[in-house]
Amino acid sequence: MDANKMDTLLQEQRTFHPPDDFQVKANFNNPDIYESALRDPESYWSEQAQHLSWFTPYESVCDWNPPHAEWFSGGQLNAAYNCVDRHLTDGRKNKAAIIWEGEPGDRLVLTYDMLAREVNRAARMLKDLGVERGDRVTIYLPMIPELPISLLACAKIGAIHSVVFGGFSAKALHERIVDADAKILITADGGYRRGNVIPLKANADEAVEDTGIDTVLVVKRVGAAANASMKAGRDVWWHEISQSTSAAPLAAEAMNSEDILYLLYTSGTTGKPKGIVHTTGGYLVGANTSMRSVFDLKDDDVFFCTADIGWVTGHTYLVYGPLSAGATTVMYEGSPDYPTRDRYWDICERYGVTILYTAPTSIRMFMKWGSSHVEQHDLSQLRLLGSVGEPINPEAWMWYHEHIGHGRCPIVDTWWQTETGCAMIAPLPGLTVTKPGSATRPVPGIDADVVDEEGNSVAPGNGGYLVIRKPWPSMLRTVWGDDERFRKTYFGKFDGVYLPGDGAHKDKDGYIWILGRMDDVINVSGHRIGTAEIESALVSHPAVAEAAVIGRADELKGQAITAFVTVREGVTTSDELVTELKKHVVDKIGAMARPEEILFAAELPKTRSAKIMRRLLRDIAEGRVLGDTTTLADPSVVDVLQAQYKEAD
Ligand code: WT7
Repeated sequence: MDANKMDTLLQEQRTFHPPDDFQVKANFNNPDIYESALRDPESYWSEQAQHLSWFTPYESVCDWNPPHAEWFSGGQLNAAYNCVDRHLTDGRKNKAAIIWEGEPGDRLVLTYDMLAREVNRAARMLKDLGVERGDRVTIYLPMIPELPISLLACAKIGAIHSVVFGGFSAKALHERIVDADAKILITADGGYRRGNVIPLKANADEAVEDTGIDTVLVVKRVGAAANASMKAGRDVWWHEISQSTSAAPLAAEAMNSEDILYLLYTSGTTGKPKGIVHTTGGYLVGANTSMRSVFDLKDDDVFFCTADIGWVTGHTYLVYGPLSAGATTVMYEGSPDYPTRDRYWDICERYGVTILYTAPTSIRMFMKWGSSHVEQHDLSQLRLLGSVGEPINPEAWMWYHEHIGHGRCPIVDTWWQTETGCAMIAPLPGLTVTKPGSATRPVPGIDADVVDEEGNSVAPGNGGYLVIRKPWPSMLRTVWGDDERFRKTYFGKFDGVYLPGDGAHKDKDGYIWILGRMDDVINVSGHRIGTAEIESALVSHPAVAEAAVIGRADELKGQAITAFVTVREGVTTSDELVTELKKHVVDKIGAMARPEEILFAAELPKTRSAKIMRRLLRDIAEGRVLGDTTTLADPSVVDVLQAQYKEAD
């Protein structure tokens, strides 16, 4: 985060108390919970685990052999049973489980009973296609009902799902299929994006070449306009096999608490994405607990999380959290501005959304569009607002509070990560006084702190590394196929203490203010991208000799991608080459990794030990006075770059 923004954030003085009526009715309204859960986290988590249905009760709550944790050992359960089947007999059979709104305006409501039938059918389809317990199933689908149905069908039969966001390119999908050694791929003929057709099947065809995938299950979403081709002997249409597959009750596999529920790839500091491993019992306890604590979920709530299921937010707060809690979850396929800029507000009004969970980048966009789009709609059903993905700037927080929440709805700014599984630092809306821009304090059962270089807790008013001292149920268990990387990345700095990679400040009241990543990971519109991934995409182009990528501050996106590139001998730089390189990155990774700007440099600023000084590149891109350049091998390099950057502006 840039220095000015950080200053404004840390000078924020406003406080907001939970409204009295909210507090009285809140699920969590006894302040002692923080204290007692910190004193005895195992009892706290064991109490929370009682909200799930276990086939076999667990014998121990947590076994901690740093960095490896086991939660609820001996216990057996099934995530799909907890999210679906058990609600058929707890009074929710005909309650709306998923309310789906398609981009072109098509709509579908699945009750718990209807969802159960579709999950049973899909589970049988997967079994018939040879999927067995423990097999990996890669899922590359748009935001259509078959997506959560596929997740739950995998969970029901004990297969491990690995969802790849539909915005990733064929190459990125290929890499993730290979790493997970997936057996089958579930995809669609195409998807919609702002009225255009996204060629998912064409990407899938390219991605499955030279992998272990022998079956591709294809949902017909678009039809003729997708122009998808089917390969005989490999590709099967979902709608065709589903017609001949029974939806009758199907017994859920009894999974061990520590059996893997899913893999989800995320970016780190190297070019290779990591498959984050989440297991069944602990993950589901974390997801379910946070629905009741952070989101104060009640039986009549309608929960709208605007994230895509391709990211962890969608896994936890569109699927496993709300459904395990028996809630109604709203799922929207399209963009907030297509065809009109009031799409979210129309959805909130029409479905009576009570809890809205979205990202600061979207809130900033709504601010820019102006409140008239909001004012056309009756948002009086809303009672709680959530934010996730990056630090929320106080102006955006205030706008959200006033224009969406009408001053009435508490805001929960939730800090967490793919690795943490569920919200970790966030207010409890009936208990915690909020401050715009602060995620406030760790939720009960989470022992998070801000520490200095030696790992000592910093005094109030200071900053340092965010850490989590004790294990928690929904923590990642390892990195798929690379336990060494898991150890090094997350537990390599402080012994037995989890390092998320974020910098944070602790204020005089002990509130935590997340300042952003401290490593070479950037956050573009709430999407996490490793600079090394973009760099390796760039250098794989024949014209490029070397590349350095940084995130520079951006009003709307939080960070925007700037690439500094040196070309090979004999290559002439041009605007055409810029366009070509941007396209090359999109082909390698996906549209979310497209550099906003590419600057050609004769040389990149390096230390004498040949390390690229990204800090200086950020100074250049953000138009700041350059920081310390004395460690540079050749200080003149940055002056040239700076002059060039200003010219390009
Ligand atoms: C990174 C994790 C799980 C949320 C979706 C992103 C940043 C996330 C906040 C927040 C400040 C936040 C952190 C974190 N982040 N939420 N409320 N305040 N920063 O998941 O892709 O795994 O990214 O997002 O930097 O490390 P992710």
